[in-house]
Amino acid sequence: MKRRPIVAGNWKMNGTQEQAAAITHQILTSLPQNSQVEVVLCPPHTILGKVGDLLKGKAVLLGAQNAHWEPKGAYTGEISAPMLKDLGCRYCIVGHSERRQLFGETDASVRKRLRAVLDHGLTGILCVGETLEQRQQGKTWAVIQAQLQAALEGVESARAAAQMVIAYEPVWAIGTGQNATAAQAQEVHSQIRRWLAGRFGTAQADSIRIQYGGSVKPENTADLMAQPDVDGALVGGASLEPAAFLSIIASTAQAKETPCSTASS
Ligand code: 13P
Repeated sequence: MKRRPIVAGNWKMNGTQEQAAAITHQILTSLPQNSQVEVVLCPPHTILGKVGDLLKGKAVLLGAQNAHWEPKGAYTGEISAPMLKDLGCRYCIVGHSERRQLFGETDASVRKRLRAVLDHGLTGILCVGETLEQRQQGKTWAVIQAQLQAALEGVESARAAAQMVIAYEPVWAIGTGQNATAAQAQEVHSQIRRWLAGRFGTAQADSIRIQYGGSVKPENTADLMAQPDVDGALVGGASLEPAAFLSIIASTAQAKETPCSTASS
């Protein structure tokens, strides 16, 4: 099954209105027409409106970095899925490791946030990944499987196929400059796809895109994207540099033009 590659930029807590406009403008003007890569920008909440306005009618889609599980109410500092929808968001990252590690996000809260995102018609980018210690202890797959199981509890197959992207982001590769090798990424991605097949069915698993994230740069994109189960990238630091981000998109398009030898299913 041919999956449309997806490259998303997670800007994290970066960007003034002016910087956001400059980055967005450069991406829009230099992105090739009819790119076969789906491109998503996930700026912080404060500039979602600004970036959303610039993306209106364009091929680049808007995403958020987090959403609360309730639609509205007394939740100081939180933003809800319908609010994101209202701003034109199509995607929302859920369960990023920075949220899990720094802001007390648990499997239970990730599940609730993901449920709200899906219920309000957004596509969830569910992040999973192991720490260095867990990898060294041989627990990589056990950790990821547990994260998938918890977050996707109660999600129906049709919904998963239509509204889910998984992002494999090894924690040790995030912001460190040390990306997973293409082989390491492929190994986990194929395990994730097998798990998705068991959970949702083979056809659904074949259609769900699995992004790799963690120190993705122009120099390592081609190798990573040449893997049959790596369907795109979730890019942090390099997504704030338009030239680098565009180069990652171009390498992704090129790698995916050459059909991957085998689908893992
Ligand atoms: P870096 O690309 O900066 O390593 O960040 C990856 C990430 O966390 C994307 O969500």
